[in-house]
Amino acid sequence: MKDHKEQACNIIILGASGDLSKRKLLPALFALYCNGMLPHDTRVYGYARSKMDDQQFREKITANLNCRYTPDSNDCAEKMETFLKMCFYQVGQYDSIQDFTALNERMAKEKRADANHLFYMSIPPDIFIDTSCSIGGAGLMDVPDGFWSRVVLEKPFGRDSKSSAILMKTLKSIFDEESTYRIDHYLGKEVIQNLMTLRFANLIFEPVWNRNYIDWVSIAFSEDIGCEGRAGYFDNFGIMRDVLQNHILQIVALVGMEAPVSLDAKHIADEKVKLLASAAAITAAETIVGQYIANTVDGEEKPGYLDDDEVPEGSITETYAHTIMHINNPRWSGVPFYLSAGKALDTRKTEIQIQFKDLPYSIFNGTGKENPQANKLVIRVQPNEAIELHVTNKVPGMGMEMEDVKLDMLYHDSFDEELPDAYERLLLDVIRGDRSLFLQDEELRVGWDIVTPLLHQLEKEGKKPVQYPYGQEPEHGCPA
Ligand SMILES: NC(=O)c1ccc[n+]([C@@H]2O[C@H](COP(=O)([O-])OP(=O)(O)OC[C@H]3O[C@@H](n4cnc5c(N)ncnc54)[C@H](OP(=O)(O)O)[C@@H]3O)[C@@H](O)[C@H]2O)c1
Repeated sequence: MKDHKEQACNIIILGASGDLSKRKLLPALFALYCNGMLPHDTRVYGYARSKMDDQQFREKITANLNCRYTPDSNDCAEKMETFLKMCFYQVGQYDSIQDFTALNERMAKEKRADANHLFYMSIPPDIFIDTSCSIGGAGLMDVPDGFWSRVVLEKPFGRDSKSSAILMKTLKSIFDEESTYRIDHYLGKEVIQNLMTLRFANLIFEPVWNRNYIDWVSIAFSEDIGCEGRAGYFDNFGIMRDVLQNHILQIVALVGMEAPVSLDAKHIADEKVKLLASAAAITAAETIVGQYIANTVDGEEKPGYLDDDEVPEGSITETYAHTIMHINNPRWSGVPFYLSAGKALDTRKTEIQIQFKDLPYSIFNGTGKENPQANKLVIRVQPNEAIELHVTNKVPGMGMEMEDVKLDMLYHDSFDEELPDAYERLLLDVIRGDRSLFLQDEELRVGWDIVTPLLHQLEKEGKKPVQYPYGQEPEHGCPA
């Protein structure tokens, strides 16, 4: 197989005028360029309807490029200039074969036909199909022998089992599964990638990673800001579709799955699918949904969800969800997985907690001393990425007191390396053709099966979510 850097590559960003492109994709490509990881002959073509020329596009993206990998400011300015010269812009409609043909002709004229093609759909999901049909219709997926053409799709992948299946089926008529990279940027986060290493490259966890030793597992995602600026998009989806169905279920799969046969993308996906397929659908009886209301936080007035101009009056879209997932297999039967996701809570954090059981018998019982705490493993995905193992320790001194202390590994203290942004890793993997951090179609299907019945029930009943003040988590009565 050819080194990914040796072949020319055209990276075509659809929706290049938008937020994701400006804030994440172009800075990630620049970081890869600074690290010498992009193919030597790369061109980025931004494509969108907004009127801009190449120069205006370059000016628009410059402010978000940063030189964290290039501390020398002279080098940085030089690298930025060269990178910007690799970026071009093409105005076009998404549903126009003619406009995409114009892009194809431009690339041919600029001698970019003998190159790999990477399409990044940084556009709203309701135009995926039209855009894909135009790309296919303009012949942009047809590359010369020896080259590849790949497409990256951003979530959300549908609204429920049925719409997701229709979307996947339609897209498959244009892009085959091997060329399709469905991104869940959480899978590109360093701590999430480390889950397999932690579990399968260490002896000490695997023997206790099961129902005999683990009491419960919790995966919690919280943001301390509301939906400001994205409420129009968010209202169509809600937190269960936006976060729980994808990011959180992917983490559940990595925490719960059996060891894959190898690190091959298919083997990893097979194990994730098996795990998610063993889970029962979440139920209304074990789920709380909430919606934030206005509150004063640290002296500042914070608006409620319904106060946002982009939110329709009386919307019952949930901004918070807490649920219990049950995995019916020999490893996890009887171990609740508490899942929660919310906006406008008291903190910004994503954390996995593995709570071990109490000791079956303790020699310290009856000594009048505190019983040792059960062990807990905490894996903090963000911020301040860390792994903490809570153990019981004797408090130093003449007595015999015990205390829960943390053996902790903070990424920032333990590694000199800068943690790459998830998009850097994921874009590089697309170019290298490694699909192991991307969602495969079956994963999507089983993931939607877990949440779709509840989503439909809530919609049918039209029940209002519980209100919670901005900055405070709703009560749910579960340990985490
Ligand atoms: N932003 C994030 O942090 C983030 C995170 C995770 C996933 N995503 C997903 O990534 C994709 C892009 O996100 P984004 O935040 O960059 O989106 P965006 O800014 O809303 O849209 C990107 C571009 O698409 C075009 N567009 C927007 N609405 C359109 C419509 N109704 N019809 C046709 N074109 C339209 C606009 O370009 P023109 O008008 O110039 O054509 C816009 O600049 C979305 O699928 C989003 O769900 C975003």
